[in-house]
Formats: sequence, C-alpha cells, structure tokens
Amino acid sequence: MCYNIAVLLSGNGSNLKAIIDKGIKVSFVASNNPKALGLKIAKNENIPIYSCNNISDLEEEVLKLIIKYDVKLLVLAGYMKLLSKYFVKSLPLKFIVNIHPSLLPKYKGMNAIKQALEDCAQYTGVTIHYVDEGMDSGSIIKQEIIKINEIDTLETLKHRLQLIEHRLYSDTIKSILIRNLQN
Ligand code: GAR
Repeated sequence: MCYNIAVLLSGNGSNLKAIIDKGIKVSFVASNNPKALGLKIAKNENIPIYSCNNISDLEEEVLKLIIKYDVKLLVLAGYMKLLSKYFVKSLPLKFIVNIHPSLLPKYKGMNAIKQALEDCAQYTGVTIHYVDEGMDSGSIIKQEIIKINEIDTLETLKHRLQLIEHRLYSDTIKSILIRNLQN
C-alpha cells in the first residue's frame, strides 16, 4: 500500500507491528515515551522515529513530519495522551484515527478493559474511531463485540481483544486509504 501513514504510540506497539506486517507503509513513528517498545519495533524496521516527553514539542514536531513525509493518515496505536485542540484543528477532518479497547461510548479513557470487568459487563469489544478534540469521542468507524466469559481475567480479556485489534485496525486503515485514494 503506497499511501503513507504515521503512527503515534506510548507503549508496546503490538498494533504497530500488526500494521507493518500487513504491508502498510509507515513513514514515521512518534512517541511521548522515549522508552516505548513500539519505537524499537519501528527502529528494527528502519522506520524513522521521534520521541519527546514534552507534549507540545512532540505535537509541533509531528505536524512538521506529517508535511515532510506527505502523510495521509495519522494512526494512534496505544497513544495514551489527549491530543491538544490546536493539534487536532491543524489537521484536516478525518485525518486521525484511534483504536480503543471497549465499545465506545462505554469505558472511555484509561484502563478500559479493567473498567468493563469491574462493571461486570457481559460484553465488551474494540472501537476504531476518528479523533476529534474530545476524549474517545470522535465518530465511530468500526466496532467488534465479544462476550466476557466468567473465567476472563484482565490478561485473558486483553489478549482476546488484542487479537481482534490486530486484524481490525489494519483492515480498517487499508479501507480508509483505498477510499481516500478513490476520492
Ligand atoms: C491497545 O489495546 C489499544 O486499544 C489501547 O492501548 C493498547 C495499545 O497496545 N488504547 C487505548 O486504550 C487508547 N485509549 P499496543 O501498544 O500493544 O498496540
């Protein structure tokens, strides 16, 4: 897929890995966490990386890199900071996508899987949505639901959700890029 995307992350980068493995070209990876494992994954794939724990400096640099690499879609993959209003408004509508481990609008924010378990929810799932200025509030692109089993722990549920994420995120990104290409 020749359309460029960029990825923002804070942690392990398993979604980044799944995206790379599906053949989607990643122009650069940026993080607020210089120790994020996702940066190592990018480095091993010879993808340019940038990290900075000062959020406004990070956002400023990411805006510059988006222009430099002619990025068409910014993908948040486990990025655990709220983007500033200025940053979101600097980019076109529907330019940023995010993945969240719950059926939004349920269980927004941090620890979504724990929130679902503590709520004794019967179902949870994965949501992919466009990013607006709010927290986990942009319009929903795709959702997939799963049943929470009685024997599920935080670890087993996270594992089951991540298996869905790794398939659903790459497929959805590909569809968005193809649709944009046709317009
Ligand atoms: C993913 O499960 C993603 O849904 C979640 O962080 C994890 C990152 O995993 N994102 C959020 O909770 C955003 N609010 P990864 O670093 O292994 O891709």
